[in-house]
Amino acid sequence: MNIVMFGPPGAGKGSVSAFLVGEFSYPHIAAGDIIREEARKPQNKVRAYMEKGELVPDTVIMQLVGSRLRQPDCREGFILDGFPRTIVQAEFLERQRIPVDIVINLEVDEDAIVDRLSGRRMDPKTGQIYNLNTMELPEGVDREKLVQRPDDKPEVIRKRIEVYKKQTSPVIEYYRERNVLLNIDGNPELGQVVGSVREALQKVRE
Ligand code: AP5
Repeated sequence: MNIVMFGPPGAGKGSVSAFLVGEFSYPHIAAGDIIREEARKPQNKVRAYMEKGELVPDTVIMQLVGSRLRQPDCREGFILDGFPRTIVQAEFLERQRIPVDIVINLEVDEDAIVDRLSGRRMDPKTGQIYNLNTMELPEGVDREKLVQRPDDKPEVIRKRIEVYKKQTSPVIEYYRERNVLLNIDGNPELGQVVGSVREALQKVRE
């Protein structure tokens, strides 16, 4: 089954995907991670877009994600997080005959998005994501050692939300018309959101 995780920045796409990966033996393909890896290469052209909160050009991300989805580990299914983010990208998947079986659309209020993104921190050693605003830090985690993503600064968060509304939200209608959209309330605590996603996926598989 090919699953797309959809939703505004900070909706919980990555967090929910981490749980799904444990249940399905599918790879988790996060467009943002692919871009961040690309941004580490010298003279790359993607870092500037990301740090301003803008989308990287469709041609660039389609090439990167397209070649990842053609790897053998994606044959049985995948969890695709953060792609497509434009109608052009959605049409690209269709043209490439990469079917999308289900789109999990996490719906979250804008205030919660800002709260989550401004509080998000990462452990640079393990890559584990925490949140200073919405979750308790587990015992033994040193707050001072956690780092913030450059695009989680307030002015960039505002830009990402604006870009989502203008360029990404039309993709919801695209998938609604194709009957693969599953809207999930992403506002409750993470465990509850994961439970709702599980339940919805169970119904689809029955
Ligand atoms: P990307 O990394 O994909 O950023 P994003 O979509 O803005 O998503 P986030 O990673 O910020 O949020 P998320 O929904 O995964 O939430 P998370 O689980 O981390 O993309 C970065 C950039 O790359 C883009 O801006 C763009 O420049 C470029 N890019 C990527 N894809 C592209 C594409 N297709 N086309 C063009 N450009 C592209 O959770 C957020 C925080 O909230 C965490 O701290 C978490 O612990 C917490 N949290 C999660 N769920 C809950 C909950 N239920 N309750 C309380 N806290 C919660």
